[in-house]
Amino acid sequence: MSRADTQEDLNAVIRQHSELLAAQLHSQRESLFPPDASKSMRKFTSGEAAALLGVNDSYLRKLHLDGKGPSPEVSSGNRRHYSAEDIQNLRVLLEKTARKPGDYLPGRRAGDHLQIIGVMNFKGGSGKTTSAAHLAQRLALTGYRVLAIDLDPQASLTALHGVQPEFDLLDGGTLYDAIRYEDPVPISSVIRKTYIPNFDLIPGNLELMEFEHDTPRALVDKREGPLFFARISRALGEAQGRYDVVVLDCPPQLGFLTLGALCAATGLIITAHPQMLDVMSMCQFLLMTSDLLKVVRDAGGSLDYDFIRYLVTRYEPSDGPQTKITGFMRSMFQDRVLTHPMLKSTAIADAGLSKQTLYEMGREFFTRSTYDRAVESLDAVNGEIEGLIKQAWGRT
Ligand SMILES: Nc1ncnc2c1ncn2[C@@H]1O[C@H](COP(=O)(O)OP(=O)(O)OP(=O)(O)O)[C@@H](O)[C@H]1O
Ligand SMILES: [Mg+2]
Repeated sequence: MSRADTQEDLNAVIRQHSELLAAQLHSQRESLFPPDASKSMRKFTSGEAAALLGVNDSYLRKLHLDGKGPSPEVSSGNRRHYSAEDIQNLRVLLEKTARKPGDYLPGRRAGDHLQIIGVMNFKGGSGKTTSAAHLAQRLALTGYRVLAIDLDPQASLTALHGVQPEFDLLDGGTLYDAIRYEDPVPISSVIRKTYIPNFDLIPGNLELMEFEHDTPRALVDKREGPLFFARISRALGEAQGRYDVVVLDCPPQLGFLTLGALCAATGLIITAHPQMLDVMSMCQFLLMTSDLLKVVRDAGGSLDYDFIRYLVTRYEPSDGPQTKITGFMRSMFQDRVLTHPMLKSTAIADAGLSKQTLYEMGREFFTRSTYDRAVESLDAVNGEIEGLIKQAWGRT
């Protein structure tokens, strides 16, 4: 047998495996989200709907009995369930008779600037996508108009929202199309509606890598138009009237896309898993970022933020070393570390495995105490970030 017969063709093996994987992922999506492989949002119990609206359940029941607003689905035992659309319609109804304008529709008012929140850290697996997805969904469910953007070529945020890059994004459709140097398209053409009211998505895929390749060439050629760090900001400017908050899920690297996100952002959430290696890597991230930002600022980039916060992720309060490192971070960075950490929870990990956030899954799928503890932690983190947004708009 000649050597050529026994040698494997790397390219052929990789191609075959990628095709096998893509087909498997597609059939997984079909089985996870029947009948048409597209996701939908679950219904919410009357208690959950009341909490999202900030009213009492008894008041919600009265509205239903008086025939006001959308009719919930009533199941055995007189239990009422509301869709996310019902909740949004109730919000609009309640706002009409609100004591203060904005009690139920909390988004921007005249003069409030668009909040662009970058979730970043170049440490892989520090919880960026999980934090970004839960933040964006929670804000949408509580009445903000949200645009979530996947800036990571690995496209985890995209997959989490039921879009499979290998099947659904064959002709582009990522932010790259709107920020590229050659014939950029209007950002509106890459924005997709999702199964959650108030929540739009710009998906990502490998094409985003092109921006990393194009940029050095554009710099050498001294191309006309905004420089790399101003391109995301410019593109978002076109859509700014349509949203209250934009959430950017950044890739685990400090490339041109992340620098563009840094310059577009009005607020930063730096996710940090409290372990020694992660903190050391974060130290590198901060040093490199500060060097690069100096270059960007000298070239005219804007770096003013309403807030910069560290979020402790996958936190286990019973783990001694983790509490020590968290304490260490708090003593160094003080108020810049969010008060609430995101707890590590099997419920959050399990939801992720079936391509969902915990907000998309009902309590019935988990041990109640596990579910409640995880949701409480997520709500606390997201509520704290919502507070920072409101503060930036001058509200108390
Ligand atoms: N609070 C949590 N509890 C349990 N598991 C979590 C939690 N947060 C994240 N995870 C899990 O940890 C893994 C990494 O999280 P995630 O994808 O959010 O990190 P990331 O920073 O976006 O990663 P990457 O750098 O690859 O983009 C995922 O499998 C996710 O389900
Ligand atoms: Mg990620």
